[in-house]
Amino acid sequence: MSTAGSKAPAGWVNPLLDGRDKRLPRIAGPCGVVIFGVTGDLSRKKLMPAMYDLANRGLLPPGFALVGFARRDWADENFAELVHDAVREHARTPFREEVWARLCEGVRFVPGSFDDDASFDDLASVVAELDQQRGTGGNHAFYLAIPPATFPVVLKQLSRTGLAAPAGDQWRRVVIEKPFGHDLRSARELNDIVNDVFPEESVFRIDHYLGKETVQNILALRFANQLYEPIWNSHYVDHVQITMAEDIGLAGRAGYYDGIGAARDVIQNHLLQLLALTAMEEPLSFSPGSLRGEKIKVLSATKLAEPLDETTARGQYSAGWQGGTKVDGVLEEPGFHDSTTETFAAITLNVDTRRWAGVPFFLRTGKRLGRRVTEVAVIFKRAPHLPFETTMTEELGQNALVIRIQPDEGVTIRFGSKVPGTAMEVRDVTMDFRYGTAFTESSPEAYERLLLDVLLGEPSLFPVNAEVELSWAILDPVLEHWAKCDRPEPYAAGTWGPPSADRMIAMAGRTWRRP
Ligand code: BG6
Repeated sequence: MSTAGSKAPAGWVNPLLDGRDKRLPRIAGPCGVVIFGVTGDLSRKKLMPAMYDLANRGLLPPGFALVGFARRDWADENFAELVHDAVREHARTPFREEVWARLCEGVRFVPGSFDDDASFDDLASVVAELDQQRGTGGNHAFYLAIPPATFPVVLKQLSRTGLAAPAGDQWRRVVIEKPFGHDLRSARELNDIVNDVFPEESVFRIDHYLGKETVQNILALRFANQLYEPIWNSHYVDHVQITMAEDIGLAGRAGYYDGIGAARDVIQNHLLQLLALTAMEEPLSFSPGSLRGEKIKVLSATKLAEPLDETTARGQYSAGWQGGTKVDGVLEEPGFHDSTTETFAAITLNVDTRRWAGVPFFLRTGKRLGRRVTEVAVIFKRAPHLPFETTMTEELGQNALVIRIQPDEGVTIRFGSKVPGTAMEVRDVTMDFRYGTAFTESSPEAYERLLLDVLLGEPSLFPVNAEVELSWAILDPVLEHWAKCDRPEPYAAGTWGPPSADRMIAMAGRTWRRP
């Protein structure tokens, strides 16, 4: 019986809507945000602009307060100027004087260093004043946009001053940025320190990839459609390639990056989260518990393919050409001389479940690669039988479904099609969905979405402790293996990584896509 054109069966509940109309944005209730690390890049380029964009969209409460804390001899006005300039330069939505004027009324600054008790006592007084003056209702989020080494002292101060402890039905939340530790052991220590002061439900760990529309769309694509899920398994999928390529170099971040490297910087978090969303089972609902439960299950089943010297690769970019410009190698970066930290990393994973048995997942990331692109490419097996002469299908590749996370957000399907003409010749063609042309609304920035979710107490898009630890457990053996090896292999800037990455995937009988 054909089901073409049939409606959803009676009683069917769209799991994406989860009982309420999610098309309507929710507005945050009375609250404020305190940022530690206000002079850093993250605050200026992402956090402050995102707060303005939320205000501009009418999603912040009328008495919203933003407090900056830093070791600067500043008054409120000086901090407001910093916020203003950051907003003018980086906000997504147009600048409107009246929105800025309203936001500015709630801007405060507290000068001080993290080990100075008096400064934190001042911060506690400012927060209490804001509750009176602005009606923030005792609800505050503390954003640690600071190096993890400084988390313990700041958390201790928040605990000492009572800032971490809400009264009655008030809330206090802490927002932490990656890296969540350096390996499994340090991540556990860090989690213990954080959970000593804030209960797990008040901890919001930011993985900004989860705030991207295109990343959330992986779940919509898989679970709101009938088309893909039946073939989303080892019967039809040959392998999966997850690529996060950047064309930029270290861009002045050598201090942060040295000793961290590509695997810790993005595979441990962004790429393993992309793998989890691509490979997980359908959640019972879109409640935070169900979603995280499925991610935890799939990460628990994810294992490194071995031997590691064949199934992993790492590199360091050397001088080369990027978009017609000659660029230096990473070892020329101030503060990076002699560093053995990798700027390119690739690993091979297996997901040990019935669904994915025998399907390798190849993950790669690097700085100064051919171009900026992040994508999840699901490559399908060849048709078991081709009723054509070999010459007719010489140029036919494998079917692929490519989820383009960025830029040029969308989804492409590659399949074979007859070349026009009298002869039968089949060649690859693509069918494209692009956000830019399919929708009129532009996508919010990841930080806009995530900050709003923090203020709403909506935890779905924030990895829990267990996910972070499982991701380290997957990666730790690679890091230990690399620590015993020679220097990373050089690759010229503007190329697609070191030859060992090509060898790695060739050993598995596949080739990398050229995105
Ligand atoms: C960050 C990494 O998490 O993501 C950076 O620390 C990287 O090294 C950045 O450049 C890339 O983010 P996006 O959103 O531009 O892909």
